[in-house]
Amino acid sequence: MAKAVYPGSFDPLTNGHLDIIRRAVRIFDHVTVLVAHNPRKTGLFSVEERMQLIRSSVGDDDQVSVDNFTGLLVDYAKEKECHVVLRGLRAVADFEYEGQMANMNRHLYSELETFFMMTSGDNFYVSSSLVREVAMLGGDIKDLVPPAAFKALHRKFNQ
Ligand code: PNS
Repeated sequence: MAKAVYPGSFDPLTNGHLDIIRRAVRIFDHVTVLVAHNPRKTGLFSVEERMQLIRSSVGDDDQVSVDNFTGLLVDYAKEKECHVVLRGLRAVADFEYEGQMANMNRHLYSELETFFMMTSGDNFYVSSSLVREVAMLGGDIKDLVPPAAFKALHRKFNQ
């Protein structure tokens, strides 16, 4: 069975993430969307909230599961016997950071391969951090995130 792990902060899930998940299940038999604790980022949503947003946005799909972890991604991959990390690539700015991570992960665990999927056109410039900023300042992000994330952002910034 070809399985992949799709790690990220997902704070919150955007349409770009969802697009990657939907396209990835056409290639892999199973995709685990993995909410990782990124020590370089402080979160708006709790890990449990992020997982819930992913579950409700993906809906019922046996090919997708949602999990979370703290620590090194390679340790998670080893434990789950998963050899593919999936990442979405947007504009050129992603390239260096993604290249560093892919190489570091391969250095730490040579059996782990990173697969990149280009984010599709409309989502090319969408990031969770920009979405959070725009939502916080009252901008319209309705077309950038799934409905569940839109409602959750609205609740966060209008309570
Ligand atoms: O959505 P993000 O924040 O760009 O995702 C980055 C993430 C969470 C995938 C990355 O920071 C990660 O893998 N963190 C887990 C800790 C780890 O393994 N660090 C070394 C990465 S080379």
